[in-house]
Amino acid sequence: MTTIEVSEDDISQAKELRDQFQRFLRGYEFGMREVETKISILRDEFLHDHDYNPIEHVTSRLKTPDSIVEKIARKGIEPDFERIRDEITDIAGIRVTCSFVTDVYQLFDLLTAQDDITVRVVKDYIAQPKANGYRSLHAIIEVPVFLSTGQLCIPVEVQFRTIAMDFWASLEHKIHYKFQGQVPGHLVDSLTDAAHAAGELDARMERIHREAHGTRPALPAPIDPRIVEV
Ligand code: GTP
Ligand code: MG
Repeated sequence: MTTIEVSEDDISQAKELRDQFQRFLRGYEFGMREVETKISILRDEFLHDHDYNPIEHVTSRLKTPDSIVEKIARKGIEPDFERIRDEITDIAGIRVTCSFVTDVYQLFDLLTAQDDITVRVVKDYIAQPKANGYRSLHAIIEVPVFLSTGQLCIPVEVQFRTIAMDFWASLEHKIHYKFQGQVPGHLVDSLTDAAHAAGELDARMERIHREAHGTRPALPAPIDPRIVEV
């Protein structure tokens, strides 16, 4: 049996690294909270001033340390905090589930038009769904976080989708997980069909909603130079 010698120095270095990693992750938690607050302010404003709630629910999650380490290894990223911040942009993730597709775009516009938000990347999988039928609007945005030591710019991945898109993505994710990525062809086809049905349902629900309530008054147009990528 081999014995590994661990010196006091090794232990204190490991502790220092752990503290740095925890500090690094806290930055993401703060960034996520900033964006969550922005979304909840928009929701409250809509509710009070426009008598309409465009958001069904909001969820958020921080990537676990294990999953960050796994992604660092998979992408072959140098384990350096700056590189990780640049390359892994989904450490903080927020999912905004809206009632209708127009709400998805409106919320996206209102959030990304805010002065302190920088848009890094937009992937519009609603305009151009993935081959499997996945639809959602993704944005990597950066939000400033002010700490006693200065300002941090934190990337946050925000996914905007409708309830129908969310329903589909959640089932697809479970099936993908169950078959560890090797989903049988007939299920892949059924899921793609179901994604089209979900898209049609979104369009129908929105038509019914408009017929019942009329078109909502137009909100201010967004001001943006956006980086749009699909
Ligand atoms: P990751 O490195 O896996 O985060 O993907 P990416 O860098 O290619 O980014 P993309 O914007 O395409 O996807 C990011 C996230 O969107 C994923 O982590 C999922 O939450 C969601 N997503 C993307 N594609 C699918 C899909 O086909 N099915 C489901 N259920 N979710 C998806
Ligand atoms: Mg991801």
